[in-house]
Amino acid sequence: MHVKIDHPCVQHKLALIRNIETGHKKFRELATEITEFVCYEALKNVNTREVEVQTPIEVATCRMIDHDIVVVPVLRAGIGMLEGILELVPTARVGFVGLYRDEETKLPVAYYERFPPQAKSGTCIIIDPMLATGGSAVATVDILKLWGVSSIKFVGIIGAPEGIENLNKHHPEVMIHLAAVDEKLNERGYILPGLGDAGDRQFGTG
Ligand code: PRP
Ligand code: URA
Repeated sequence: MHVKIDHPCVQHKLALIRNIETGHKKFRELATEITEFVCYEALKNVNTREVEVQTPIEVATCRMIDHDIVVVPVLRAGIGMLEGILELVPTARVGFVGLYRDEETKLPVAYYERFPPQAKSGTCIIIDPMLATGGSAVATVDILKLWGVSSIKFVGIIGAPEGIENLNKHHPEVMIHLAAVDEKLNERGYILPGLGDAGDRQFGTG
């Protein structure tokens, strides 16, 4: 299951973030802005509770988020999406998974994990801009499940059909939210047309 955000503002920002001429400062700003759009949709069904609020005129019946949201950026590139989601849910807690993709095998290598206890009862939202082979996303969900998390969503910027299929196959209940679904992977496991190496582009290490 996946949802692609189809909105002219998102398409415009995708055109800018993909562009090789876009430097790391602008890349980070765009990643934040696109993340806000994708997360807005991903958080649509989060639990709310009724509250009474005194306005200057009278009491209004309102709704507030009533659920622990734990955002899990996949290091490094997921960090670039953190500010965007925290704009929407400033009270969210943050857990971390450190993974990098081995250049030869294209398989993820895990090097770090740390989660708040609320991850087990709340909803974990994995953020990672690229869903390429899907190996990193599958490994992150595996780690979260081992830790006892039951409600998990994946939010990314660009996905490849191969990655969507892989994550769906291993964890069919994890909803995938993306700004774009690209054509395919190249022989090095990079998304075509994609945006290149997301970590390098946002941190200026390329
Ligand atoms: C990128 C990206 C994902 C992964 C996606 O990270 O941020 O985590 O690749 O590829 P996959 O779907 O084929 O697993 P990378 O391994 O480049 O590490 P970095 O963020 O530290 O640069
Ligand atoms: N990781 C990236 O940063 N970009 C890709 O295209 C694939 C994996």
